[in-house]
Parts: sequence; C-alpha cells; structure tokens
Amino acid sequence: MRNIIIAGNWKMHKTQSEALEFLQGFLHEIDETPDHREIVLCVPFTALPVLSKNLHGSRIKIGAQNIHWEDSGAYTGEISGTMLSEFGTRYTVVGHSERRQYFGETDETVNLRLKAAQQHNLMPILCVGETKEQRDAGETENIIKGQLEKDLVDVDQSRLVIAYEPIWAIGTGETCESGEANRVIGMIRSQLKNADVPIQYGGSVKPGNIDEIMAQPEIDGALVGGASLASSDFARIVNYQPF
Ligand code: PGA
Repeated sequence: MRNIIIAGNWKMHKTQSEALEFLQGFLHEIDETPDHREIVLCVPFTALPVLSKNLHGSRIKIGAQNIHWEDSGAYTGEISGTMLSEFGTRYTVVGHSERRQYFGETDETVNLRLKAAQQHNLMPILCVGETKEQRDAGETENIIKGQLEKDLVDVDQSRLVIAYEPIWAIGTGETCESGEANRVIGMIRSQLKNADVPIQYGGSVKPGNIDEIMAQPEIDGALVGGASLASSDFARIVNYQPF
C-alpha cells in the first residue's frame, strides 16, 4: 500500500512565536487522525528550532523547503542537509515552482538537491507541474515527462515523494479538477521505475475540496500552501473524510 502524506508548505510565513501558536492549536486537532496518514510541516528555516523543541514525541514530521547539495561551503543564503538534520528534519521540498520561477532553480540543480536530501536521510518532495500557457498549448505531459527525466537521474525512487503542482493552480484558488489531477498523477506514475512512490496533488487545496481530491485512486496526499497556515484549516485537511 502506498503511504498517504499530507504536507503543509508554509513558504515565507510565520515567526517562531506564530509557529508555536499554530502548534498549540493544531496538536489538539490530530488526536483522531488515522495512523497511516503522515503529517508533515515544511517550514522556514528559522521555525525549525521551535518545531524541533515542541514536536518531540509527536507524530508530526518536520520538513524544510530547500536543501543545498554540499554539506558546507561558500554558498551564501543556502542551507545544508547537515544543518537541517540537526533539528530532526525528516522531509524537504525540492524544486518548488516558486524556486524554479523566481530563484533560477533548474532541473540540474533540482537533481543535485534531491540526491543530497537522500544522502542525509531526508525524504525529498519533488515538485513538478506545468504553467497555464503550457497546459493551453497541450504541453502538460511533455513538460512533466521532461522534468521527471532530468530531475530523477540517479535518484533512489524508494525514498522519494512527488507532488504534482500545476503552477496555474498554486495560490490562485483555481484547483485542478480532481479527475484531471488523478489522470496526470497516473501519467507521472507510469514514468517511474517504482510505482509505489507516493504522489501528492498541490495547488489551492482547501478544507472544502480535500475530500474529493483524496477520493481519487492515484492521489496519495496533498502539498498545501495557504490552507496550511491556519491550524483549523490544516487540521480539517489532514482529517479529510474519504468518500
Ligand atoms: P497553495 O500552494 O496551496 O497556496 O496553492 C501550494 C504550494 O505551492 O505548494
């Protein structure tokens, strides 16, 4: 059976005290969450210490949003797997479209970051997805196949999570129709050597659409941006009700 992984991606949100406040609300709301659902919070680097301190013994896994491929060196503004591991970090997002779009991340650097995460026993969540223009031009499949081909060179597919995030659906309130997300995720799975890689959907996941999304047979979880910032919203998402 494939793992179900629901991950929050806080992006550049929350100070340490706001992170603590979130946890105080959220921890009470996941007592009844079925055990086989993995809950992950991918937070800014500065929130890692507060999570590390307060999630000890909890079922919530700590995640980062990026990782550099070297362990240390002259890489201003970057973070290494050694540094992340010190705080008990277990996951990291790699290749988010915002990194690709605004910070010049390429498939080559995404590949290096994926391999570094695995070397440090961090589970990478690789993000792939198409823009609106690419979708309208009928390029969705080709774009995603190209990303997978380049990103996954020499990556161990037994320690990998993929998130299908159509860029036009991120932060826009415009969710990809769940049947279509299921279709694209099935296509992604057909490209993999390991068909058991958990594949999430991401892009305007909300309390109101998570049940329908998780009812789709190919979708193994969600990567949640905006709706992971309020503890009650994210709790409703991890406590989704299967149809
Ligand atoms: P969103 O972001 O849920 O706010 O659309 C998703 C993401 O970027 O991972």
